[in-house]
Amino acid sequence: MGNEAWLRYQEVENESLRESYQTRCSAIAITERTNILCTAEKELKEALLAMTGHSPDIVAIQHHQVPRVIIGVLGSGDAEIDREVGAEAELIGIEGYVIRSLNGRAGDSDRILIVGKSDRGALYGTFHLIRLIQMREPIEELHIIETPANGLRMINQWDNMDGSIERGYAGESIFYRNNRFVENFNRIREYARLLSSVGINAISINNVNVHREETKLITAEYEETLKKVADVFGAYGIQLFLSINFASPIVIGGLPTADPLEPSVREWWAERATDLYLAIPNFGGFLVKADSEFRPGPFTYGRNHADGANMLAEALAPHGGLVIWRCFVYNCLQDWRDRSTDRAKAAYDHFMPLDGRFADNVILQIKNGPMDFQVREPVSPLFGGLSRTNQILELQITQEYTGQQKHLCYLVPQWKEILDNDTYAVGEGATVTEIAKGATWGRPYGGIAAVSNIGNDACWTGHPLAQANLYGYGRLTWSTSLSAERITSEWIRLSLSCDRAVEEVVSSILMKSWGIYESYTAPLGVGWMVNPNHHYGPNVDGYEYSKWGTYHFADHRGIGVDRTIETGTGYTAQYHSPLREIYNSLESCPDELLLFFHHVPYTHVLHSGKTVIQHIYDTHFEGAQAAAALLDDWRSVRGKVNEEYFELVASRLLEQLEHAKEWRDMINTYFYRKSGIADLQDRLIY
Ligand code: GCU
Repeated sequence: MGNEAWLRYQEVENESLRESYQTRCSAIAITERTNILCTAEKELKEALLAMTGHSPDIVAIQHHQVPRVIIGVLGSGDAEIDREVGAEAELIGIEGYVIRSLNGRAGDSDRILIVGKSDRGALYGTFHLIRLIQMREPIEELHIIETPANGLRMINQWDNMDGSIERGYAGESIFYRNNRFVENFNRIREYARLLSSVGINAISINNVNVHREETKLITAEYEETLKKVADVFGAYGIQLFLSINFASPIVIGGLPTADPLEPSVREWWAERATDLYLAIPNFGGFLVKADSEFRPGPFTYGRNHADGANMLAEALAPHGGLVIWRCFVYNCLQDWRDRSTDRAKAAYDHFMPLDGRFADNVILQIKNGPMDFQVREPVSPLFGGLSRTNQILELQITQEYTGQQKHLCYLVPQWKEILDNDTYAVGEGATVTEIAKGATWGRPYGGIAAVSNIGNDACWTGHPLAQANLYGYGRLTWSTSLSAERITSEWIRLSLSCDRAVEEVVSSILMKSWGIYESYTAPLGVGWMVNPNHHYGPNVDGYEYSKWGTYHFADHRGIGVDRTIETGTGYTAQYHSPLREIYNSLESCPDELLLFFHHVPYTHVLHSGKTVIQHIYDTHFEGAQAAAALLDDWRSVRGKVNEEYFELVASRLLEQLEHAKEWRDMINTYFYRKSGIADLQDRLIY
């Protein structure tokens, strides 16, 4: 129940459609027996068996008698493939694919060609065909050309080797238990299938906070196991990365220092890299959290992030490896009394001066916002700032600040908004999409990484509907131009049902869920009104007097952070015009980010015509009501989806609506007590 996620293969009910799938795909041929093409063959075979009731024959490429699916790589010696799709292949990148139906002629039968420039492309194309059959789409006249928008399409696991997952809300790790790898890799293989089917091509398998045991992952002790894991992912076209501990030379190397400019340290890393690549030739590289939240880094030695990243880059470069260096760097020991320091400014202040100083195989990984995956934030000004450095966008699929997979919060609409943001770095058009993929500055690397939301939970994600976030992340990263609606519709049809009524209801539930969550938790871009540490549930002053740099400054007159140039922290100056002016001015700042950029009295009138205080009351009353309505809506699909699945979602929605009341009452009460201003509608506030 829910464990197949979007690779759910139900027998095709409509007889003529089923026959047509079966006939057109009565055999499969692949051009070469590479691991990845064999995966494609196996995946298609299993999907067809489950959906048509017949197992297709596996035939040689020269076989001409039966209608068949030919999966292959351009230029691998098959004249027909090169002739039929050669011209179109000009349009696709190394991971793209062409799918073409060719009608039978004398001496040959119908064929469906799935052709990539690489076997990975052909595998993605195969999953595309499977998707069409799952969605009961016709496959007679296929003519599809696809190429991924982003080169790097990555998943970051925040799994620890003791089996726990940092910010995980769906059980324990599928990779580790009791400080060892799990013995059975089936679950990992199932995960690889899911990821590959939506185009993911890279994964880091341990938490960015690298603790004692995980530090050893780059040593000989783990080589053999890592090789096995890399092979599981490799068969699905996914490259393996590891998060590393910057202090490894000390912790496991026995050196007195981890200074990146010290020759013995550089040699140590070079040796580690050589050994790793000997064991795992297709290893991807290192993901690094350094000088961030108590993690060691180059600062200890008076060096900067470029020194640190370039040292690792030098070690990996001979093997084609990448260093993905995170920009989530700020002072996490701030004094709340200090009004001049602004955490939002930190990443830009740290990394902008280093623009252009990173090696070619270094990529900076930048969180979407300047703070930390809040329900709403402006886009990080590093996008549009950095122009001479490889960079990728970091998103969070796991719902740390967005309801922890107890509340429904479908994040694709949020990500669409982030990607569509124009940074105005080169006039109009330098959107986050264009910058992240490397297009704006013509960078060799680009892409998106995201923190996974899965665990060993039976349905992967705790809340079954949270699977849509993982699916949506993959699809959007592959094709940033897909609409949220389209992705949503696909996910529902693949995972739940092709029934129109189900699609309508579930799609409406998903599409409004982020807005609903925002309305009862985080008014006007304020953020951080959560319980410290675990970040679940309301606590308006939870972070107000803490060291983390996350304040809202509410008093009896008003609320919000003044980040303007004239009277505030000056953060708005990190943006290009006209964004800088738009955010800096109280008149033009969009309502949804008002309190992120400005400190205003509760009586300040928003563009919506409401005062801030009335907006707080209204959104919290309406939000809690809307959360209750989600459950009513869901109830209308009872009987149309798997009963167990139905119950599981219903129980989560029930929990959400109860908890939404808690949010509503705590937030409204807090601000009523602070402001002394009554609700215009005289609703119950405690
Ligand atoms: C957040 C999160 C941490 C995580 C950190 C990061 O602060 O709460 O658990 O380690 O982000 O992205 O490194």
